[in-house]
Amino acid sequence: MPENVGTTAVNAQPDSANESAFRRAPVDLTIVIPTFNERENVREIVKRLDRSLKGICWEAIFVDDCSKDGTGDVVREVASIDSRIRLILRHNRRGLSSAVVEGALAATAEFVAVMDGDLQHDEGVLPQLYAAVAKGDADISLASRFLTADGADGLSSKTRHQISNTGIKLANLLFGLKLTDPLTGFFVIRRSVVVSALPELSEIGFKVLLDFITAARPAPKVVEVPFKFRERVHGESKLDNRVMYDFFLFFVEKKISPFLPLPARFLSFALINSFGILIHLAALSIALNLFSVPFQSAVLVATVIAMAFNYWANNALTYRDRRLKGLKFYLGFLVFAGFSSVGIIANVGVASMMHEQYDGLFYLVPAALGALLTVVWNYVVTLAFVWGQDRAKGRFLANFRSLTSRSKPISTTHQARTQA
Ligand code: GDD
Ligand code: MN
Repeated sequence: MPENVGTTAVNAQPDSANESAFRRAPVDLTIVIPTFNERENVREIVKRLDRSLKGICWEAIFVDDCSKDGTGDVVREVASIDSRIRLILRHNRRGLSSAVVEGALAATAEFVAVMDGDLQHDEGVLPQLYAAVAKGDADISLASRFLTADGADGLSSKTRHQISNTGIKLANLLFGLKLTDPLTGFFVIRRSVVVSALPELSEIGFKVLLDFITAARPAPKVVEVPFKFRERVHGESKLDNRVMYDFFLFFVEKKISPFLPLPARFLSFALINSFGILIHLAALSIALNLFSVPFQSAVLVATVIAMAFNYWANNALTYRDRRLKGLKFYLGFLVFAGFSSVGIIANVGVASMMHEQYDGLFYLVPAALGALLTVVWNYVVTLAFVWGQDRAKGRFLANFRSLTSRSKPISTTHQARTQA
């Protein structure tokens, strides 16, 4: 059990008579609402919660990743006059799953509802979801889109329908579940179940409910309640086909980490690099056999193609949450290619030295070891210099700008502005 995350039930008594003036009724249900660019939906959600949750003492925690559209400002405005509303603003972070986890940990209630911030989830179902867990019938109650014929009509396209169906079948099969909607984002869970799941939670951030169900100890009891998934009115969906890859990684991580505690990103990086080797070999043989390119040039061409593939695929999949776009994408490739070349040169050097010294297949051992070291090297340096935290990059760019322009450094202008 992780420490310091608050595992005891909250039952506070006021320390003094004075403090009792600030007492509020204990919260029954905390609703965690992850948001990213949902400005138009915030006020409406609060209005609807107020209407649907009569008789339940509730609070709502919006977890916003500093949305550019100012969602956080709207929540702060609402929270400034409504004590049931709270805001967690996360800086330099992205991810639906981690937003849900952090919101649930900040909950004051023992029962936590998780609901999208785009009005697609019918808040009218919340009392039923809450009752199922509060009565003690279950540790988790989920709102399923697949218990009625028209429940999933709100899915935006046929492809989304197919992805959902395949995903659900796979989830049940791979994790031995029997649920109609283990991938839903709408559910109520005991906070203590979330806490028990913390040590085993995935790093991928794939479908947080499935993560809770598979990581919680002891295995939680789950019940399902039907609901109708609404269509989105404002804003747009942030999920796309890449979610399939996340599912694959999630599975690999869940099944591998008990034996080999490797970071999920490293697994993804290594996997993509293995594909890169196949692409390298294919390009090499095409260049040699089809185009009769001289050997050394063919190796060069194949290396560049494989490097470009590795970069593109890692940017799109492994580092999807920090994806580089536009000019940064091309600059990133230059840095990536630079660091990868160092690894490749070192590896080729060692392998050919061994090849000369030892007969037969013996040189394959150091060659394989070299390849492994190259992947580790590439992973570490590109994590630091290509897909590293924006903070370091941002500071670098800001300093660079203040050196090259004649304007004052940023910090002084900022001070001047706040003093004025
Ligand atoms: N804080 C935060 N950070 N919130 C996010 C992020 C993020 O990186 N990405 C998405 N959200 C918020 C959105 O603002 C929205 O409130 C909610 O999470 C769901 O995101 P959508 O982009 O609307 O997802 P969806 O409608 O495509 O998918 C929903 O249905 C799936 C089932 O088909 C979600 O509920 C999924 O969890 C669910 O599995
Ligand atoms: Mn949605």
